[in-house]
Amino acid sequence: MCGIFAYTGPDATAGAIVLEGLKSLEYRGYDSWGVAIRTADGTISVIKHTGKIGSAKLPHIVSHTALGHTRWATHGGVTQANAHPHLSSDGKIVLVHNGIVENYQTLKRELQELGYAFRSETDSEVIAHLIAETRKSVSDPVACVRTAFERLIGMNGVVCYFADDDTFVAVKNGSPLVFARAGKARLLASDPAALAPHSREVLFLEDGDCIAISPDGDTYYGADGMKKQMVFQLLDFDPEDAQLNGFPHFMLKEIHEQPELIRRITEAQEEAVKKAAVMIRESYGTYLVGCGTASYAALAGTYLFSKIAGRHVNFSIASEFAYLTQFIRERSLVVPLSQSGETIDVIDGVRDAKMRKARIMTITNVQGSSLFRMADYALLLGAGPEKAVCSTKAFTAKVALLLLIAHELAGNRERGQETLKQAAAAVADVLDRKDELRALAERMHHRDHLFVLGRGVSYPVALESALKIKEVSYIHAEGFAAGELKHGVIALIEQGTPVLIYNPDDETYHDTLSAAHEVKARGAYVIGVSSRNSDVYDAYFHIDDCADATIIPNVVVAQFLGYYLAVLKGFDPDKPRNLAKSVTVK
Ligand code: G6P
Repeated sequence: MCGIFAYTGPDATAGAIVLEGLKSLEYRGYDSWGVAIRTADGTISVIKHTGKIGSAKLPHIVSHTALGHTRWATHGGVTQANAHPHLSSDGKIVLVHNGIVENYQTLKRELQELGYAFRSETDSEVIAHLIAETRKSVSDPVACVRTAFERLIGMNGVVCYFADDDTFVAVKNGSPLVFARAGKARLLASDPAALAPHSREVLFLEDGDCIAISPDGDTYYGADGMKKQMVFQLLDFDPEDAQLNGFPHFMLKEIHEQPELIRRITEAQEEAVKKAAVMIRESYGTYLVGCGTASYAALAGTYLFSKIAGRHVNFSIASEFAYLTQFIRERSLVVPLSQSGETIDVIDGVRDAKMRKARIMTITNVQGSSLFRMADYALLLGAGPEKAVCSTKAFTAKVALLLLIAHELAGNRERGQETLKQAAAAVADVLDRKDELRALAERMHHRDHLFVLGRGVSYPVALESALKIKEVSYIHAEGFAAGELKHGVIALIEQGTPVLIYNPDDETYHDTLSAAHEVKARGAYVIGVSSRNSDVYDAYFHIDDCADATIIPNVVVAQFLGYYLAVLKGFDPDKPRNLAKSVTVK
């Protein structure tokens, strides 16, 4: 949520470098953007705009130092004044911020009484003035930022540039910040993927850590204020993976990456899967937690563990988990699922569970992320950067891993690998027949409502499918357990209402078919997704049966429908309105 990028180094096009960095971070927020550039005479030039960066270019200013921000609005509307960077009154301190300053009103009043005038409605501008005020008594930039930062309540990441000292100071508590060296250049960003084109070795700042970059060199400080050794990590992906590579949108590209990804997970994750199974076996209660798409993968996990391994595994939406941690004790195992590894609601719940001495086994796509670092053991999805705001390949990767772990627990690893191979082939088949799904989308894109039904493990897939469709196409889509139909949902069915029904050839088949008849009798346009056709379907999309892994090709159907519905309605599927990929605020 909000992207930060800063550069200082020998290249004289610092502004353009920062702009490119912001473009790669734009999925973190695209309400507005801004860049501050240090000009040759040491003054600061700020350029800010509302809306997406798109193909924006900056006027050429010779500069070796710049910092920028792409915003997801929290405090204050989407206006140019509220866009970052924010400046101190004398224009000599530049600030970009990610997070929420919970006590900003108190601090703002205090600063106003001291005579500070505010240009924006943001909580972020408060930090710029607070640092300027602190500097009056604490001249060292690091000590000054630290002193001011300690007064902020909330989870925040701040990068501050002192023009007079030509010094950056970055500090964080909760919101991610990553540092890299590339030759003589120094860079900071909210996300390692943005640094990958410059360097594959990055340093993830820990909470409370602080880094100073000045003409004298760069220095790293721990939360105790003492100098700390920098430990860099090698990124596990190629910068090329973060490019469109010929696809019109990242969402489409990432959907297409799934067959290969599932095959890779099947083959390459054996050791990680074994270790995860042992941790679950040894636990006294396992809890899968996640937000959004990750929460539906977690819910699917509860069905897979129950059915495949006869094991009760708990599930909670991460934002609700904090209200359920009374059950957590020393032998509990908490399994946060998170593509980014930075979702604040997940981090909060995990922090609480850690205080109760639970063990943490993270499943994430981002090496070095907060949840990766908080874990006793972390499994990496290895899906490469996921850039579209809505999650596709990270979902199927999580489900594939959970399915393998469930089979490992049940002592039939080969069976798990076999079904996943079938699933990879079935996804490839969906890719080959995507035009059928485009035709279906053409039929439905004028509808206001759409429903998705499934039973058993297809229920979380119905939820995920509805989320996929609504978040990119803005059609009101709801997923339901097919059995709940008669308890209210059926009142919403009208003549022609599209109802997507997942009906794999498993123990749910006949009951789900009854649901199809019930909605059809009330005028629904029924789309059956199954390995078995039926007269009840107005439209039928064949999916090869892959036992418990059938949910993987099934969800790809909805990924395509969402994508095509968005494109047909003229929306950008990669950047849906109001959303951001990495939700680092509450
Ligand atoms: C946001 C994204 C979703 C994602 C969710 C959880 O809401 O738009 O696509 O599923 O965050 O993100 P995580 O990184 O924790 O998986």
